Amino acid sequence: MTSTSLPTSAGVLGSGDVGRVLAAGLAARGIATTLGTGRPGDDDLRAWAEEAGVTLGSFAQAAAAGEVVLLAVRGASDALGGVLDAAGGADAFAGKVLVDVTNPLVFGERLPPRLEVGHEDSGGERLQRRLPGAHVVKALNTVGNALMVDPALEVGGEPPVMFIAGDDAGANAVVGAILAAFGWQALVVGGIERSRELESLCLLWVAIGAEHGTWNHAITLVRAT
Ligand SMILES: NC(=O)c1ccc[n+]([C@@H]2O[C@H](COP(=O)([O-])OP(=O)(O)OC[C@H]3O[C@@H](n4cnc5c(N)ncnc54)[C@H](OP(=O)(O)O)[C@@H]3O)[C@@H](O)[C@H]2O)c1
Repeated sequence: MTSTSLPTSAGVLGSGDVGRVLAAGLAARGIATTLGTGRPGDDDLRAWAEEAGVTLGSFAQAAAAGEVVLLAVRGASDALGGVLDAAGGADAFAGKVLVDVTNPLVFGERLPPRLEVGHEDSGGERLQRRLPGAHVVKALNTVGNALMVDPALEVGGEPPVMFIAGDDAGANAVVGAILAAFGWQALVVGGIERSRELESLCLLWVAIGAEHGTWNHAITLVRAT
């Protein structure tokens, strides 16, 4: 997978912790990166973007600017649907690699949250159905944003495994190249329907943090030699 080249341009949709970590990580690797947000005029965001070497724009501008687009907005369908419409709908993503970092979380009074959809469907599958021309790859949704880029972890002398799921082998390879540049080793666990398990792993990640009061953990794979 690592023989695939990095993209030269990327769009990141979302200006939360995840969107900013990913955009800064891409820009630091020489990838022309546009971050899309509903508030591109926000002063704090503009100052952050200038320092990170990231171009700020609307959701539509970021979707158009990237050969690869990373989706890092709130994953519940009401918020996500609004962002996808603002970005230009299905046509805006046709033919693009779309990295789905979202989790379809619904928060209650206590942690962990619950999934809005699960078991026999998933946010990743809903996204692929909504944007049939896009090559959706679920990735990076099982780790906290602090460890997404340069996690400085190794397992048996190797970068840790990051699970990814997507139907298109070429798109999976592009995401594998990005993950390798970030310090992870991508492992394809299956087609986009495997988002069902990957989104559940997010709940496990939150549950471990809530139980132990620490948030520096990651879920990975180990194999006997
Ligand atoms: N936080 C983590 O460590 C982590 C780890 C793995 C996966 N994830 C997933 O990554 C995604 C982003 O997480 P996050 O923690 O960065 O922040 P978040 O609060 O889940 O999402 C922030 C982004 O979502 C947009 N947004 C929120 N509510 C919206 C609404 N009602 N309508 C339209 N847009 C809305 C915001 O738009 P504006 O830019 O316009 O403000 C902002 O860009 C989520 O799906 C989350 O489950 C998070």
